[in-house]
Amino acid sequence: MVKTVGLPAEIKDGERRVALDPSAVKMLVHADYVPLVEKGAGMGSGFSDEDYRLAGARIVDNAGEAWSADLVCKVKEPQQSEWVYFRQGLKLFAYLHLAAAPALTGALVEAGVEAYAFETLIWPKGHPLLAPMSEIAGRAAAIMGAFHLTEGSGTLLGGASGVPPARVVVLGMGVAGTMAARGARGMEAEVTGVDIDLERLFEVHEQQIVTSTLYSNHHNIGEAVASADLVISAALVTGAKAPVLITRDQVESMRPGSVIVDLAIDQGGSMETSRPTSLSHPTYVEAGVIHYCVTNVPGQYPRTSSRALSAAVIPRLLDLARDAKSDHLAGSLNVSQGKVVHPAVAASLQGNYVTEIG
Ligand SMILES: NC(=O)c1ccc[n+]([C@@H]2O[C@H](COP(=O)([O-])OP(=O)(O)OC[C@H]3O[C@@H](n4cnc5c(N)ncnc54)[C@H](O)[C@@H]3O)[C@@H](O)[C@H]2O)c1
Repeated sequence: MVKTVGLPAEIKDGERRVALDPSAVKMLVHADYVPLVEKGAGMGSGFSDEDYRLAGARIVDNAGEAWSADLVCKVKEPQQSEWVYFRQGLKLFAYLHLAAAPALTGALVEAGVEAYAFETLIWPKGHPLLAPMSEIAGRAAAIMGAFHLTEGSGTLLGGASGVPPARVVVLGMGVAGTMAARGARGMEAEVTGVDIDLERLFEVHEQQIVTSTLYSNHHNIGEAVASADLVISAALVTGAKAPVLITRDQVESMRPGSVIVDLAIDQGGSMETSRPTSLSHPTYVEAGVIHYCVTNVPGQYPRTSSRALSAAVIPRLLDLARDAKSDHLAGSLNVSQGKVVHPAVAASLQGNYVTEIG
């Protein structure tokens, strides 16, 4: 039975979000749970310990005390230094992205943690715990892409009189892709939206969110990226490793100084040339192309992100605390009783997690 809910401070590089704001903590208290909030957990998002105390939380001095709770709720996947807190029967609710994290998966499996992932929860539809962060990451992708073009080819998205606008290709027209396209269109770039879902392509075409649409296959993507100034990937297959949509030779076909923003990097990345980067070192150059592959893009907008995430998380957290088998948690259980139980995650890892421990 869940009595205590832990809220540890985030420790991933540059991460300033917190999973629950004081208003959500108040809801936990109202439902008779005891929130254990690590000292300073909300500081990066502008919430003081006093704000949490007034909401009814117990402020604890260190991460160990927050992790001692029956149920731990946090933003990012536990970093290696946090794995010591894993134990049999602990309930964990966070972004996990296990398809791209075999070592973390092994640690959760070995310890017997009941691990529920925000990003694979699919009730009542879509990905309600991924969507708020995808919305923010999508908007940020347009901003980051436009910014890093100043370090690369020096192309301004909107062009100028006598100079055509930049070409932006967005792969995956879901929540993140749509917001990225809107951001790039807002800066008056020419935007091509790419997806395998023709209905979705109809919608974004009809609503003029993009200037053109393209069916996603290797040939079409190759032609589009060869003339692109900025490529943003936001393609997702729930729970699975991201599909690799752009090969190395296609990246090499891009003009030097072009930019790739690979939001799908948290699921392993959409480019053959992608590898995870951090908020303190967000980019690298490969094949002459600037790659921005930050795995926690919304972490740099903590005030907005934490409130948006908290609003989405709190009703499901209350469900999880009351009844871990609730239908409202559909799809979120990834690891249970020493096994990977999410089919797409299991298929992506193909049992390759245990061997990578340690
Ligand atoms: N890096 C970050 O900080 C960050 C933050 C938030 C979200 N994300 C990631 O962004 C990605 C997108 O999330 P979302 O919420 O927008 O997902 P979503 O489910 O709303 O959209 C995914 C889209 O990808 C499309 N798709 C699937 N296979 C495709 C293919 N082969 N070619 C083209 N399109 C394809 C789907 O049809 C869908 O429209 C996820 O990997 C998510 O984890 C990253």
